[in-house]
Amino acid sequence: MAMEIKAPRGTNDVLPAESYQWQLIEDAARRVSDRFGYREIRFPTFESTELFERGVGDTTDVVQKEMYTFKDKGDRSVTLRPEGTASAVRVCLEHGLFGGLLPLKAYYIISAFRYEKPQAGRFREFHQFGAELYGSASPQADREVIELASSFLKELGLDRISLNINSIGCPECRKNYHAALKEYFSSRAEELCETCRGRLDRNPMRILDCKSPVCKEIAAAAPVILDYLCDDCKDHFETLKASLDNAGISYSVDPHIVRGLDYYTRTVFEFIDPASGLTLAGGGRYDGLVTELDGKMQVCGLGFAAGLERLVGVMKDRGLFPDLPRNGVYVAAMGRSAVPAANRLATDLRALGIRAETDLMDRSLKAQMKYADKTNARFVVVIGDNEVESGSVTVKDMAGGDPFQTALTDGAREIELRVESEERR
Ligand code: HAM
Repeated sequence: MAMEIKAPRGTNDVLPAESYQWQLIEDAARRVSDRFGYREIRFPTFESTELFERGVGDTTDVVQKEMYTFKDKGDRSVTLRPEGTASAVRVCLEHGLFGGLLPLKAYYIISAFRYEKPQAGRFREFHQFGAELYGSASPQADREVIELASSFLKELGLDRISLNINSIGCPECRKNYHAALKEYFSSRAEELCETCRGRLDRNPMRILDCKSPVCKEIAAAAPVILDYLCDDCKDHFETLKASLDNAGISYSVDPHIVRGLDYYTRTVFEFIDPASGLTLAGGGRYDGLVTELDGKMQVCGLGFAAGLERLVGVMKDRGLFPDLPRNGVYVAAMGRSAVPAANRLATDLRALGIRAETDLMDRSLKAQMKYADKTNARFVVVIGDNEVESGSVTVKDMAGGDPFQTALTDGAREIELRVESEERR
């Protein structure tokens, strides 16, 4: 017997009846990005492993535990992208974009891969809408990126989403903070998980983001970075807060946000759905990433990414997906002799940009009408011997409007006029 093949664990299929929900979110992402002057960037699904080791950081969970890494047939180590930021920077460096017009603004809609334990809102293949901005150190850039994410959520009808922000400082103020963290965690080192014990010397901030319950509990009472910020970072954070206030964007300061990726400096933020507790979008500033990847250039960067599966889930829970409006035309043929006329009318309609379907199943008129109704056709035209003979057809409005009569040869144009007037209403 053939083996039953199922989708890999932690992946999702999007069925034809649901894909409009994804398209609605993706369309909103493109529309809102365009409003802020961001243009789409595309990059490969896999990159050389080193890009993520250096970009995302080799003490992060993402790099240490979650990457889909393999050798290709040429013995090169490649990795399915676990996120988009490192790739976006790689693209800009490789194509010299940082030498062009600044600020540089780009957005992407991508699949991403992390070998995580699948659970509610957490998958092994997931999708992100992300936006990145390069070249500006100004806190106004931080405000703009947060405003873009916030506008996107609003565009989807997602209100009542909490925005939490924090500043995790620059390498300067982090020196003292790392020392304080090391001292705090060293006193309880035996209780930490093995990975975190390894992080103690190299990157103690990573312990704050560990998912193990014991490390989490110890981390809850650790010193917070906000108490260690240098004057410049403090100023930057204060100006950002004032600019968010001015934009009417409400937020809470959460000194415990550290984020799961190593590249962040100064501002970090997360948008959280209070009902599910899921982080819908997260991001921040990463002023050291370009230098980390390039070795020479210093270009500020910042951005965010939103998880599309989570957005679909929360929007379903909140009933935010509209019922699809009826549209298009079903052209029913009654008897074989009517088939050519029905096909011609459907062809004419499609040429005018109107969705048109005809029977492909040799169904009775009643069954064809049922199909037209189930597929949400707005108009139905029934063509039989009489109609072919008289050259005149009746167009039935499935949305309850009055039926109307038209010449078969003018049918497509008449229906087009009716569709246009409906759309204007
Ligand atoms: P991240 O917080 O790792 O940030 O991911 C961003 C969003 O992707 C999360 O808030 C969540 O909605 C979604 N997400 C992450 N992992 C999963 C998963 N396993 N299953 C489902 N959804 C998930 C980044 O990726 C950064 N590159 C964001 C960024 C852009 N920072 C600056 N620029």
